[in-house]
Amino acid sequence: MKAFIVGAAGGVGTRLATRLVEAGDAATGMFRNPDHRSRVESAGATPVIGDLIADDVNQLAAKMAGHDAVVFTAGAHGTGMEQTTLIDGRGMEKASAAAAQAGIARFVLVSAYPEAAAAPQGISEGYAHYLRTKKAAEVFLTRTELDWIIVRPGHLVDKPGDGLVTAGPALVEQDVPRDDVAAFIVAALHEPTLSRTIVELADGATPVTDAARQVANSVGPRR
Ligand SMILES: NC(=O)c1ccc[n+]([C@@H]2O[C@H](COP(=O)([O-])OP(=O)(O)OC[C@H]3O[C@@H](n4cnc5c(N)ncnc54)[C@H](OP(=O)(O)O)[C@@H]3O)[C@@H](O)[C@H]2O)c1
Repeated sequence: MKAFIVGAAGGVGTRLATRLVEAGDAATGMFRNPDHRSRVESAGATPVIGDLIADDVNQLAAKMAGHDAVVFTAGAHGTGMEQTTLIDGRGMEKASAAAAQAGIARFVLVSAYPEAAAAPQGISEGYAHYLRTKKAAEVFLTRTELDWIIVRPGHLVDKPGDGLVTAGPALVEQDVPRDDVAAFIVAALHEPTLSRTIVELADGATPVTDAARQVANSVGPRR
């Protein structure tokens, strides 16, 4: 499989590139900041510069052409509400439109649990905007004809992963290592019947390949 990673220089993105290559797949990694090229290269992906704000759908589609799957793991990461709208929101819409234009059906979105918005201590305006934007991106993606998978990880941590997770359509939010999110996405990409499904993900005790297969079996093929 040849996967195109949007956000390849990021925490999940670099780990995903490495895992894909370990699994015998090929990865192309789109990054925005020219200083981050070496991060993408050392992760094992072919680097391609691209910007979800500056590039239009045609330009993104040209970069994605020839791949079998797109994984969207980019994000504004606390750089302000306007950037969140442009990257996590409009950027995701453009990337999914570009995948469709390039003839790539398989599209994985790394999203987020929406219920953090109900935290009893309240959340900042910026975080609430981020959660609303992520949810709107999910709504957009589920209305496309793409063969999408939405993965909602809990709070991402950098501790080493062990390849063990809990995955399902509805979980209580928990932290999850970025390593294990990346490993689960690789397993999900290799599970063709896992499609048009939202998967919540947490640290757990099930090997990622089993977890992906169990979710696929529980939702069944598209009819
Ligand atoms: N942090 C959490 O606890 C958490 C929880 C749930 C879900 N998530 C989601 O998980 C995903 C991965 O998170 P992460 O913390 O691993 O990511 P990250 O390290 O913040 O990386 C995000 C990447 O997005 C890229 N990016 C930003 N703006 C861009 C643009 N205009 N065009 C192209 N690329 C752009 C950046 O590329 P450059 O390096 O080239 O600038 C960066 O490497 C994100 O979608 C995030 O919303 C995060």
